[in-house]
Amino acid sequence: PVTVFDNEKEASKSVAKRISALIIKKQEQGVSAILGLATGASPVEVYKELVRMHKEEGLSFKNVITFNLDEYYPMQPTAAQSYVTFMEENLFNHIDIPKENIHIPDGTLPKEDIAAFCLDYENKIEELGGLDLQILGIGRTGHIGFNEPGSAPNSGTRLVTLDDLTRRDASRDFGGKENVPTKAITMGIGTIFKAREIILLAWSKKKASIIKKAVEGEISGSVPATYLQHSDQVEFILDTDAASELT
Ligand code: F6R
Repeated sequence: PVTVFDNEKEASKSVAKRISALIIKKQEQGVSAILGLATGASPVEVYKELVRMHKEEGLSFKNVITFNLDEYYPMQPTAAQSYVTFMEENLFNHIDIPKENIHIPDGTLPKEDIAAFCLDYENKIEELGGLDLQILGIGRTGHIGFNEPGSAPNSGTRLVTLDDLTRRDASRDFGGKENVPTKAITMGIGTIFKAREIILLAWSKKKASIIKKAVEGEISGSVPATYLQHSDQVEFILDTDAASELT
């Protein structure tokens, strides 16, 4: 299903409310909430609202376990552009989540250790009973996570090569496309699909044409987000601009 909000702020508040309801429900059951998280511009307001709920409403993240979708490779966690830094600045430094509950793909691994790390990442999620909720953005290539065109629908966590358009879109953060890593470690499409609930966020006119393809286009590996059409546990949460090309 597709839900369109007047603006990003209203949409993000409603997503944050759903996340907090899930966390509280799990707390009442005495178990952990297992969340799949995204970086980038799209979820920033959701995280801001969750931080506000923590500070003003006492929402606790003590029982929350998180798995981020992806990290550039190679990437030092302390680098300004790392997704570790992004998550710390936008969420983790401002809430009470235990450090050991946070999982982000490791951009510092030697190449020969990546495959084992990725398998372990999948196993950890599985052992915890799977992701309760996965938050996604969408790239202009149609990527979800860093599953670029050509990714298999049953793909798992792995090292991938970034699309040229993706690197161009990231060039501002890195001060030029040539400084953007060519690779990343990402959860696969198969990994994402195992989540019990998936919410894809998209805002602004810049996303309107890829949203049209993702929601209404032919299902194809050339636009990986079209695979989401297969699943009824997926919800597209859009602002009016991102939804403006939908029929
Ligand atoms: C980020 C991720 C990417 C982004 C996508 C959109 O962890 O996996 O798929 O969600 O590139 O990025 P923004 O939100 O910056 O437009």
